[in-house]
Amino acid sequence: MENALARAHAGVRATCSVVVTRRGEYAPWMDRIEWVGERCRLLRAIGDELERTQPFAGLTIGTGIHLEPKTVALILTLRRGGAALVSTGNLNTTQQEACDYLADRGVHVVGGPTSDPSEHDRHLWEVVRTQPDLLLDNGGDLFVRYLEEPWDRLRGGTEETTSGRMRLEPLRDRLRGLAILVINDSPIKQFVENEHAVGQSALESFMRITNLSTNGKRVTVFGYGACGKGVAANFRNAHAIVSVVEVDPVKRLQALFDGFLVPEREEALRTADVVITVTGARGVVTAADAPLLKPGAVLANAGHFPWEIEAGPLTAAGATVLESGHMFNLAGPRPLGNSIESMDIGFALQSRCLEAVATGAVGAESCVVPVPRAIDEQVAAQFVQTT
Ligand SMILES: NC(=O)c1ccc[n+]([C@@H]2O[C@H](COP(=O)([O-])OP(=O)(O)OC[C@H]3O[C@@H](n4cnc5c(N)ncnc54)[C@H](O)[C@@H]3O)[C@@H](O)[C@H]2O)c1
Repeated sequence: MENALARAHAGVRATCSVVVTRRGEYAPWMDRIEWVGERCRLLRAIGDELERTQPFAGLTIGTGIHLEPKTVALILTLRRGGAALVSTGNLNTTQQEACDYLADRGVHVVGGPTSDPSEHDRHLWEVVRTQPDLLLDNGGDLFVRYLEEPWDRLRGGTEETTSGRMRLEPLRDRLRGLAILVINDSPIKQFVENEHAVGQSALESFMRITNLSTNGKRVTVFGYGACGKGVAANFRNAHAIVSVVEVDPVKRLQALFDGFLVPEREEALRTADVVITVTGARGVVTAADAPLLKPGAVLANAGHFPWEIEAGPLTAAGATVLESGHMFNLAGPRPLGNSIESMDIGFALQSRCLEAVATGAVGAESCVVPVPRAIDEQVAAQFVQTT
């Protein structure tokens, strides 16, 4: 089944890398990148300002984040602020068209789409070895490598996601001296992206990739953090019968109070037509669970790293794991990821945080800490005022 899906995707990808324009016509990839750029209205306004103030003049920013149309808008905004950019993607989510678009506009793009961890590792090292002044990290990949081969002029930077914060927090003592702001821990990122946008895009991606309905299906969601709440709510709104498995008893109680079933793990796996992991933890569903799964059950991971579902052995045992356990909301045919508005808001936080680190508005005392409240308020007010 996984192979059949992969073959189907290859065909779809070749013919349908398009979006529908305002006039209802199909537009090619280039237009999609420009459509996204046009719709990122916070980033456009911030770009206008940064072009005047040039906070990144003379500085290089190394980035390791999904390369797709919304990150193109972010990277080009930073470039308008005077930065030189050295950019690579994340494992299995890079879109070649985004790389080409950036390279044509003077960004040093390292590598291209890959699902090979050792090739991805080489790309990350290539970014790190240019010794940037600032890092824009997603999953802690760049900062962890910096610790292995540190250099002097790094001022700090940003970390985008939950999984990266979990990786960098225990390293805080060794990262002392750097200002590192964690975008994920902004309340805005939590509710705008993790809860609302991941939930919507997980539902959209499940239906787009599988072409299956959700009505009456038994869906088990592992994890009831910000992302899990949104995933559970969106599948329930699409008429699925949703169960939640949570290791934290308080969050399990919250899921119950929100009206979800909270069966024991084994029962949740036995009854599920669809299993979605979104925890940030390793080995959430493993080969040992194969005998529990219903024939035809579909498994998918929306957590950052592809280690939540043991995809290889489970596939070998006959299970269907979408996109080999990589983030399925950034994969499959015509992958869209989270909504433009949610990423515009999140990337406005990114731009403002990198500006704060570059200008010294935040210093080394801010090492692996949430976005400053003043930036949250500024971005929230700007979005509401321009709605
Ligand atoms: N797909 C996307 O677009 C996207 C966007 C943002 C974040 N993420 C990723 O999604 C993951 C979750 O993010 P979050 O913000 O919801 O994190 P969170 O920390 O708020 O929630 C994770 C939850 O999972 C629970 N959990 C941990 N191990 C578990 C297990 N074995 N079984 C059941 N529950 C378990 C935790 O108790 C916690 O409540 C992270 O990897 C994050 O990086 C993905």
